[in-house]
Amino acid sequence: MSDVRTIRVGGERPYDVVVGHHLLGTIPEMLGASVQRVLVVHPAALAATADAVLEDLRAHGYEAFGAEVPDAEDAKTVEVAAFCWGVLGQAGFTRSDAVVGLGGGATTDLAGFVAATWLRGVKVIQVPTTVLAMVDAGGHMRRMEDLESEIIRTAISRYDGHMSEVARRLHIGRSTLYRKLKEFGLEPEGMTEEEAPKLAAG
Ligand SMILES: NC(=O)c1ccc[n+]([C@@H]2O[C@H](COP(=O)([O-])OP(=O)(O)OC[C@H]3O[C@@H](n4cnc5c(N)ncnc54)[C@H](O)[C@@H]3O)[C@@H](O)[C@H]2O)c1
Repeated sequence: MSDVRTIRVGGERPYDVVVGHHLLGTIPEMLGASVQRVLVVHPAALAATADAVLEDLRAHGYEAFGAEVPDAEDAKTVEVAAFCWGVLGQAGFTRSDAVVGLGGGATTDLAGFVAATWLRGVKVIQVPTTVLAMVDAGGHMRRMEDLESEIIRTAISRYDGHMSEVARRLHIGRSTLYRKLKEFGLEPEGMTEEEAPKLAAG
C-alpha cells in the first residue's frame, strides 16, 4: 500500500475517509474486534470483487455474507432494503456487527440506509467504486489521458475484447478507438492499421 491518505471528518460522530489504492485488504482492520458478522452489499458488476472481500473477511475470522442487489437506482427501494434486512435477520446480526457497501453511490446509499435502520444502527464501511476513481490519492483530479486509458481498458475487459461493442458503449467510432489504443499502447501485439477494422468487428 502506498500514498494512503486518511481524512478525519469531525462532528458529533467523527469518522475517517481513507483514500488510496489497494485498500480492500484493510477492511478487516477497519472493522475492529467487536464485529463478528459482516454483510457486503454489492451490485452484480462487482460480484468478483465482493467474493474477494468475503473470502478475506472469512480468512480473518469474520462470519461474512454477501447481498447482491439490483443495479444502480433499482437498488434504492424498500423491497431491496427488506431483502438485506432478511439476510441480516437470518444470520443473527447484532448491534455490534457491520455492513459494507461496495459499489457506486446507489449501492452505498442503500447499504448506509440498511445499516442505519438495523437495530437502530450498526457500523457501516463504504467502499465507493465510481466517483473516487476520478481522483488521485491526494484527492486531486487525475489526468484526462489516464482516465481515458483506464476507461478503455475497463471496457475491453467488460466486453471481453469485442472492440465493436467497446466502441459502441464508449460512443466513439472504430477509427477513434484504434487511434486511442495506439496512443495508450493498448493495441494487441502486432496489430496494424489494416487489421484494425477486423479487430473492430469484434
Ligand atoms: N449519499 C450521498 O452523499 C450521495 C451523494 C451523491 C450521490 N448519491 C447517490 O449516488 C447515486 C449515483 O451514484 P453513481 O454515480 O456512483 O451511480 P451508481 O451507483 O448507479 O453506479 C453507476 C453504475 O456503475 C456500476 N459500477 C459501480 N462501480 C463499478 C465498477 N467498479 N466497475 C464497473 N461498474 C461499476 C454500477 O453497478 C452502476 O451500473 C445516486 O443514487 C445518488 O442519489 C449519494
